[in-house]
Amino acid sequence: MAEPKPAQPQASAQQASTPWHNPLRDSRDLRLPRIAGPCSLVIFGVTGDLSKKKLLPAVYDLANRGLLPVNFGLVGFGRRDWTNEQFAAFVEENVRAHSRTPFNEATWKFLSGGIRFVQGTFDDPAAFQRLSQTVSELDSERGTQGNHAFYMSVPPRAFPTVSKMLRDSGLSHSQSGAWRRVIIEKPFGHDLQSAKELDRVVSDVFDPGSVFRIDHYLGKETVQNLLALRFANMMFEPIWNANYVDHVQITMAEDIGIGGRAGYYDGIGAARDVIQNHLLQLLALTAMEEPVSFSAADLTAEKTKVLSAVRVPHDLAHTTARGQYAAGWQGSEKVIGYLDEKGIDPNSRTETYAAIRLDIDTRRWAGVPFYLRTGKRLGKRVTEIAVVFKRAPHLPFEQTATRELGQNAVVIRVQPDEGITLRFGAKVPGTAMEVRDVSMDFNYGSSFTEASPEAYERLILDVLLGDPPLFPTTREVELSWEILDPIEQYWATLGQPQPYRAGTWGPKEADEMLAREGRMWRMP
Ligand code: BG6
Repeated sequence: MAEPKPAQPQASAQQASTPWHNPLRDSRDLRLPRIAGPCSLVIFGVTGDLSKKKLLPAVYDLANRGLLPVNFGLVGFGRRDWTNEQFAAFVEENVRAHSRTPFNEATWKFLSGGIRFVQGTFDDPAAFQRLSQTVSELDSERGTQGNHAFYMSVPPRAFPTVSKMLRDSGLSHSQSGAWRRVIIEKPFGHDLQSAKELDRVVSDVFDPGSVFRIDHYLGKETVQNLLALRFANMMFEPIWNANYVDHVQITMAEDIGIGGRAGYYDGIGAARDVIQNHLLQLLALTAMEEPVSFSAADLTAEKTKVLSAVRVPHDLAHTTARGQYAAGWQGSEKVIGYLDEKGIDPNSRTETYAAIRLDIDTRRWAGVPFYLRTGKRLGKRVTEIAVVFKRAPHLPFEQTATRELGQNAVVIRVQPDEGITLRFGAKVPGTAMEVRDVSMDFNYGSSFTEASPEAYERLILDVLLGDPPLFPTTREVELSWEILDPIEQYWATLGQPQPYRAGTWGPKEADEMLAREGRMWRMP
């Protein structure tokens, strides 16, 4: 069988001793591909949307890139009465439809040889016995050596049952030197208390080092590039503080509606869905101090410090905004409002748009508001972090010359057009002195030949390697709920969120929230 050959790691290059402090240092040569060792990945909820569109394609892409070993197994666990072959056909269909890299027969042949399906429900001990037998067979047939990762792509209410079954069937515990890991998809609870309960359930079964909580934003290349931008360069960090920064805007806008996810989304809303996790992680990476190294412990220490210093304003009526999309136009397509979506309670008060102001009580950020906003059915799909600077204290120009000069900004474009933009003033050509805003762009697409991997490729590989820096810890999750809980409690006392027309930039309330502070949302 012509299997794709994983690249062989070379001997690690001798580290040059550097006279300056380098937080990117590592004993490994980071340019070498990191290849997973013998193992299997078991997916619960394998027929769900996330699995079809992201997880299965990511596993295939990793295989195609030569980052999975030949002794790899993929196990699906689900209710359908499928044979291994029927499940393999399902995987192939989704891989062909959604994977990032082209379909390659040799890769598929290698991957499909290790595909197994276990039929059963989450509360059926016999099904977990069959699962246990299946992974043992993989150990002998594929050489997975007792190393198995369990991906819970299931609703949080199923976590306790699945965890208990993994424990009772002995699957959560490995024999001599092998590892067992569990991957948990968000949401990690719906408030602080439920998050703590969830954590108790999982840590009853797995030890903390074996639990990997997925926040897929941390797997995005541009999010990791934020660390490179801040800590590999000299020119940004000296001005990355309250002396120079006026405010920070973190935007995650989506043009899609809730699609087929009514069951999950209604009652959860925009803030719990993405502010509690993705946007607060972006805030932490933007605002944290330089970590001693990029090890999980050092990164977490800095993120935890900054999340602990976040202060929620008292006046929530003026520092938060909620909205719910109404019918409108998304480009040339007419779309329905949230309350008319299939499966949504027609009186639902769930917000599909949320904006909040947060402050950070540290010397670096005192007095610098961080504005976070997210919404469905907005003008376009874009995620960005904009660090907006104060105006120059003195402008030695006629007032008319700087009419079109705004505030300088560094904008980290997380997606879809990944890169960084600098906004600053430049002289308009001609005899008159006139200064106008211009942009200088760095684009991933044109600066590098390598295409960015999908976030799930990176994160699944990291789990198989046991590499935890890109996974939020329990403490980070709890701190994020501590920030969001008072806001959710306040919103629960209010009526219907303000409607906004689909295809626009959200409710008026959100514009007024910034206008009161003499600021405006950027138009990404
Ligand atoms: C998920 C949210 O975490 O992120 C979804 O639950 C959202 O509601 C999705 O659509 C967006 O992810 P991305 O990577 O497309 O920005």
